[in-house]
Amino acid sequence: MRYEPLKSDLYARHRARFTATLKPNSVAFFNSSDIYPTSADGSFPFKQATDILWLSGVDQEESILVLFPNAPKPEQREMLFLVETNDLIARWEGAKLSKDEARALSGIQSIHWLSDFERVLRDVMAHAHHVYLLGHEHIRRNNPVETREDRFGADLRRRFPNHEYERSAPAMNLLRAVKDPEEVAIMQVAADITAAGYGRVMRFLKPGVWEYELEAEFLHEFVRLRSHGFAYTPIIGSGANACVLHYITNDAQVHDGDMVLFDVGAVYGNYACDVTRCFPANGRFTPRQRQVYEAVLRVEKAAMNLLKPGVRLPDYHVQVGELMTEELIGLGLITREDVAHQDPAWPAYKKYFMHGTSHYLGLDVHDYGPWDGSEIKEGMVFTVEPGIYIPEEGLGIRIEDDIVVTKGEPINLTKAIPKEVDEIERIMASGN
Ligand code: GLY
Ligand code: MN
Ligand code: MN
Repeated sequence: MRYEPLKSDLYARHRARFTATLKPNSVAFFNSSDIYPTSADGSFPFKQATDILWLSGVDQEESILVLFPNAPKPEQREMLFLVETNDLIARWEGAKLSKDEARALSGIQSIHWLSDFERVLRDVMAHAHHVYLLGHEHIRRNNPVETREDRFGADLRRRFPNHEYERSAPAMNLLRAVKDPEEVAIMQVAADITAAGYGRVMRFLKPGVWEYELEAEFLHEFVRLRSHGFAYTPIIGSGANACVLHYITNDAQVHDGDMVLFDVGAVYGNYACDVTRCFPANGRFTPRQRQVYEAVLRVEKAAMNLLKPGVRLPDYHVQVGELMTEELIGLGLITREDVAHQDPAWPAYKKYFMHGTSHYLGLDVHDYGPWDGSEIKEGMVFTVEPGIYIPEEGLGIRIEDDIVVTKGEPINLTKAIPKEVDEIERIMASGN
């Protein structure tokens, strides 16, 4: 495999945690994602659904995971159904998982080919009372495309209307937010690959290069280091482009005097890294760039240290807003008067910092996790990413690191990527 898979006992622990949340006599199903079409006979590269990955490690299309912990037949308690591999498939696409490989990868003993699924499904449904399915319950999800999981669930409900249907998402949301040490370790690999990409780009950046050339430097370094590429569509914005939060065209030329914002992270073993850095194109910050940059950096460092077990995310976001308010007053961008009259639902600082400070990070870039005001727990991984965007000055600064919450100091997975002004200027002056 292109990446080193995690050990199967991690997936066994994940399954045990999930099945412990089920009502008695329940079965849960998890499907692979589709291979999405483009046009003619084209398709996008396969990207596995992260729930089946988290529970089994199976990174292959058309797979179905069945968890039925009280199954009368012990061999039906955990089952994987896989597309049957054969010589023709092996010739055109390369071999798919064999049964033995799937056992070793997932720790699941009952491995079937998909041709067995209908027969086993009828048997399982005759004995199960509750059926757990996944819905689209991520708070930011906004996509009308029907997934394989949707089709599967709709078909099951039509054929077996008298079962009690339940939601897997609430439990997955809580469980996936807290990372195991093996997951933190693989996220550190994604962070190290990302750091190598930033090192390469710092050597390459100069006035006159194009944003897409910088993107290409990252991709070269990531893929060379066994990443499958970008964890999300990279944002490389020079000058005022940095103020467009979802700028992904990356098609402008970088000019002398520009700051360039890079929001670029590598994926490794399906785990995401999510980092933002800003560098001056010519290697030297102007006094104003430095002033705004250092304000963001102070907020970022302070915010990181607020992410402690027991803190509630809404309170954290209020505190970061207060820190940012003071910095924006110091920069002359807002006044105490503005703050005194601000709308509590959209405080004055939002004019220059209009997005959230942190999100969960893991198999998904905007990973699963509770947004219900519950307390932060040890082992959760968050980004910390304050920014100040001043389009009228052609300047946008965001600094983003990936943080593991511990009882003590947070672990910064991305600390190797330079962010101190003097360090950035020294590296860019020396060319390495
Ligand atoms: N790169 C996406 C984000 O920062 O949330
Ligand atoms: Mn980002
Ligand atoms: Mn982010």
